Amino acid sequence: LKHLLTLDGLSGELISQVLDTAESFIEVGSRSIKKVPLLRGKTVATLFFEPSTRTRTTFELAAKRLSADVLNINISSSATSKGESLSDMLRNLEAMAIDMFVVRHASSGAAHFIAREVTPEVAIVNAGDGQHAHPTQALLDMLTIRQYKPDFPSLSVAIIGDILHSRVARSEIAALKALGVKDIRVVGPDTLLPMAVESFGVRRCNRMSEGLDGADVIITLRLQKERMSGSLLPSEHEFYSLYGLTTDKLETAKDDAIIMHPGPINRGVEIESAVADSSRSVILEQVTNGIAVRMAVLSMVMSGQINARRVASGE
Ligand code: CP
Repeated sequence: LKHLLTLDGLSGELISQVLDTAESFIEVGSRSIKKVPLLRGKTVATLFFEPSTRTRTTFELAAKRLSADVLNINISSSATSKGESLSDMLRNLEAMAIDMFVVRHASSGAAHFIAREVTPEVAIVNAGDGQHAHPTQALLDMLTIRQYKPDFPSLSVAIIGDILHSRVARSEIAALKALGVKDIRVVGPDTLLPMAVESFGVRRCNRMSEGLDGADVIITLRLQKERMSGSLLPSEHEFYSLYGLTTDKLETAKDDAIIMHPGPINRGVEIESAVADSSRSVILEQVTNGIAVRMAVLSMVMSGQINARRVASGE
């Protein structure tokens, strides 16, 4: 890996290698995360143009556990507010010898743009771009699924809610397919499902009973209101009654189905509080796995960069 911008085109083998690397950072038994010297002397900067709690913090923790120096660039108090362009900002940060940028941006394609702007020695990790991709979220979700249900080809996975605006759903579908999952259902009203969603290799379900029938893994998603124009905003009350994950609606899923959500959760909108906090919920385990998975991504991207530099210089 030289950058990590998307999971599209990544093989199941490479995704499994990322998950294995992540597992190697987790202490057996205690589940705490090791501190290792892999990125000593390297500098990682987080550039978040959109709000974040989980992703930014776990990237920071991951970089620190890898012994890197970490800079969290505060966009709202940066010189972009004085008219500095993104390109100029990047050039100035590059002049401080930053090795890797972790980027979140509201525009789809922003991470690709930045990867083209920076010098070849600098690595870019996409921490979510518009409604396009959120590769590390999907990878930590795959690690969480694998810890409970390692036989991916046998799984039935339901992804529920606002698929249309969800970068998480797009990256999860890419990862699940690469790992061999054949039965992926997307569940929601037609207004929240992409028009040709079947072309992603998934089954469209408008009814929860159909989408959850025999499901092993249930992933609920937030309504991405910030990406919807006013008139298209669904009523939260109506959405909850039809697509909110409640104890009643879980009847048709498998008894040992795990319940996932990338966060932030909106209780009483896409998920009932009792379900989010139930013993079947692995939502907080997803957050914990984010540290180890992001350590794996940062270290693999950095070693990919070093290898690319060696090849370029003929070493
Ligand atoms: N899942 C996720 O991306 O959460 P944050 O917006 O808090 O980073």
